[in-house]
Amino acid sequence: CIDIAPLYKDTGHFTYDPGYGSTASTKSAITYIDGDQGVLMYRGYPIEQLAEKSSFLEVAYLLLHGELPNKSQFSTFENDITHHTMMHESHKNFFQGFHHDAHPMAMLAASVASLSAFYHEDLDVDNAEDRKLAAIRLIAKMPTIAAACYRYSIGWPFRYPRNNLAYVDRFLHMMFEVPSEPLEMSPVASKALDLLFILHADHEQNASTSTVRLVGSTGANPYASIAAGITALWGPAHGGANEAVLKMLEEIGTPDKVETAVKRAKDKNDNFRLMGFGHRVYKNFDPRAKIIREMCHKVLSELGVNDPLLDVAMKLEEAALKDDYFVERKLYPNVDFYSGIIYKALGIPTEMFTVMFAIARTAGWIAHWIEQHETPGSRIGRPRQLYVGSDKRDYTAMDKR
Ligand code: ACO
Repeated sequence: CIDIAPLYKDTGHFTYDPGYGSTASTKSAITYIDGDQGVLMYRGYPIEQLAEKSSFLEVAYLLLHGELPNKSQFSTFENDITHHTMMHESHKNFFQGFHHDAHPMAMLAASVASLSAFYHEDLDVDNAEDRKLAAIRLIAKMPTIAAACYRYSIGWPFRYPRNNLAYVDRFLHMMFEVPSEPLEMSPVASKALDLLFILHADHEQNASTSTVRLVGSTGANPYASIAAGITALWGPAHGGANEAVLKMLEEIGTPDKVETAVKRAKDKNDNFRLMGFGHRVYKNFDPRAKIIREMCHKVLSELGVNDPLLDVAMKLEEAALKDDYFVERKLYPNVDFYSGIIYKALGIPTEMFTVMFAIARTAGWIAHWIEQHETPGSRIGRPRQLYVGSDKRDYTAMDKR
């Protein structure tokens, strides 16, 4: 029984909030979520409107600047992004050091951290121009680095970014081998990928964004901060869920095995969870999941893909939504439940799913990092803890233990 009075002597209060269920660590004007109503807005714009009418690059501008761009602002932004899509030639050599079967997220995190070794001449975090340039560089280079991670993992040579293509088309072009690959420039593939990027672009204080802010609060440079966000995203309880969903659907295999999976997910002695279900904030539905579900059907039908995993997914959703366990706990499909099926239909391998998420979330992460640096009086993040260890005791010599 350690005295906890010193914990609140400075402030007069002390909060123990495991998992930060009800603690706001910051103010932010970027993204609003109402978990009970299933509302998500970027800078006040409902996600449904942005999904239907906008593009990922426009959304990235919105997140960064707070307003939608006019024509000339957008054109300047797009030009700036296009100007910075290349990876430094020496940066490419880093990949040779990775084991051939390294997970693309491992390569991505290391690669992004290493950007600070290339662009250190303009890394003054207190300089608004440097911050802006870092944001442009990150958004521009993420698809190039991501495609390199994939191509290295399968032993293909890297492809240079083709700057006459739009953002998502450029990425698809860098990913796939054959220039005439049908998916590469298919309008539905571009639209689906752009939509997924819009929906994943930001989500206020999730684990990875809060990590970016915590690292950023120390004054660490933007590349180091975003690399930390990437590693936080990797876990299956967060961005790694999209990869985990597909693996789970493959493991279930056929719709007739869904019942057993649901039973297992309810069994507290079994570690198995329904991946792609549940959310800390959404307790009604995840508005992104609704949009993705619709796009998933569209992509499969327009590309003529007959994926039996979609049947498994639909059966699983239906079974869970009827089951008291899931209803009582308000566990609904989240953003990642259907996204993997779309990625798979686009020819993107499972290990790349979380990388895809990271490309999109980079816009949100860097917007938060900038907002943090623009906010007067920001101070270093320093969570407290409730000590539950031993009382004071005296050191015993090793031969007396
Ligand atoms: N399958 C089965 N049971 C679940 C699931 C699930 N997917 N999710 C939550 N539960 C149960 C828990 O066991 C717990 O039950 P209990 O009250 O009987 O103990 C209850 O629902 C509450 O769950 P918590 O884990 O306390 O909820 P929390 O808010 O901490 O976690 C999370 C949210 C991590 C998303 C969780 O629902 C989960 O692990 N889902 C699967 C992974 C996933 O899809 N992650 C992606 C989230 S979205 C994103 O990051 C992009």
